[in-house]
Amino acid sequence: MSKNTIDMDTIVGFAKQRGFVYPGSDIYGGLRNSWDYGPLGVQLKNNLRDAWWKHYVEKRMDMVGLDAALLMNPKVWEASGHVDNFNDPLVDCKKCKARFRADDLVEGIVPAVDGLSGDAISALIEEHDVKCPECGEYDFTDVRKFNLLFETSLGTVEGKKQDVYLRGELAQSMFVDFKHVMTSMRKKIPFGIAQVGKVFRNEITPGNFTFRTLEFDLMEFEYFIRESDWEEQFEYWLSSMQSWLVDDIGINKENVRIREQDEEERAHYSKRTVDIEYDSPFGWKELFGLAYRGDYDLKKHMEASGVDLRVEEDGEKYLPHVIEPTFGLTRLMLFVLLDAYHEEEVKGEKRVVLKLKPELAPYHVAVLPLSKKEELTKVAEPIVAELSKQFRCDYDVTQSIGKRYRRQDEIGTPFCVTVDFDSLEDNAVTIRDRDTMEQERVPIEKLSEVIEERFVG
Ligand code: GAP
Repeated sequence: MSKNTIDMDTIVGFAKQRGFVYPGSDIYGGLRNSWDYGPLGVQLKNNLRDAWWKHYVEKRMDMVGLDAALLMNPKVWEASGHVDNFNDPLVDCKKCKARFRADDLVEGIVPAVDGLSGDAISALIEEHDVKCPECGEYDFTDVRKFNLLFETSLGTVEGKKQDVYLRGELAQSMFVDFKHVMTSMRKKIPFGIAQVGKVFRNEITPGNFTFRTLEFDLMEFEYFIRESDWEEQFEYWLSSMQSWLVDDIGINKENVRIREQDEEERAHYSKRTVDIEYDSPFGWKELFGLAYRGDYDLKKHMEASGVDLRVEEDGEKYLPHVIEPTFGLTRLMLFVLLDAYHEEEVKGEKRVVLKLKPELAPYHVAVLPLSKKEELTKVAEPIVAELSKQFRCDYDVTQSIGKRYRRQDEIGTPFCVTVDFDSLEDNAVTIRDRDTMEQERVPIEKLSEVIEERFVG
């Protein structure tokens, strides 16, 4: 089954049933498209995050990490322009009072809706006689701006509380801490600051499962360069992002494309911005973004704080320019699930198999004694203890072996190790491969080595 034939209901049901993602606050009826990552979901998300961190931070000498406070001085968001400009266009249906992101209503009428002005969207709604998706009437308010920053307050004394914002992106802390990082780590341009964490946006219309949510995980870095290098650096990072997605994460190449944002869509300070899109069941959608931000952010923070953020090299003082590769982790996990989910027919029966890259799967290996008789569990348990030193292991003793294989296929476990009654005689077990379903007899003492070879090979 190709991902285009998977409907979202299948993935949502599968994710819930198999412990990847549950509806948030479910027993209370949920809360505006919020989702909880279950035991296998959090493991898969952490594996994706760790693969990114290893590739972009640990293995690079020109990148350092940061884990900044989630609440920042509100002056940060004023200086960055988020308080005034971090808006989505909003309309209400006057008849049924439903509220919509106005650009969603005109999606498909024009090639790109990001960056359209409120007046342009109102004109399109009128010209194309767009109806309210809820009640089918045509009677909308004017398009107005809706700020996405979540507000909260600090302090315990009513009337003296200070309004602050939950961070709407990671980037600003990398700019605010730029000088500290550069000085403490003795970095020279070019270098990058990377961060992974939660961000919050008061989205008008969250939806499509975890695609657009109010809180989500982001992985991004700001790469500080000389202005003259921006075009070369942009190409380099664009190619790096695509190859990481396809080669390291295993997303099918044909499901990925890049889309250049045109001038109207781009932030006013960006000379080039590209979206890396995925061919989802609800159309081509942004997965990652790459933006050239110029020196806009450092300049704004320098003006607002009064702190000199320029670097000095060879007697010259200048503000570095910035290339920003941004990777939505929550979206990546959704698209990884969609891409890996396959339904096949095996001996007249449906088999669901999650063809994840073996190293990213929640479990590397499952140990399955043929029965729960003590003579078999006595052999299986030390195998689990040994394999767990090196691999993420599951151990399952209940149900028929066929059902247990199917369950491991569904959650993407690349290898199953079966302990059977012959194991008591020959000190060997069977390894079954998730994708080929082929089985091989292996001596217990060689098990770790054989599994390791399969990961490498
Ligand atoms: N610092 C740049 C920045 O935050 P963005 O395009 O606003 O850029 C980055 O967001 C990435 O975050 C997107 O490419 C997307 O993967 C993800 N993203 C944005 N809004 C989201 C939401 N409401 N829910 C889940 N992921 C989201």
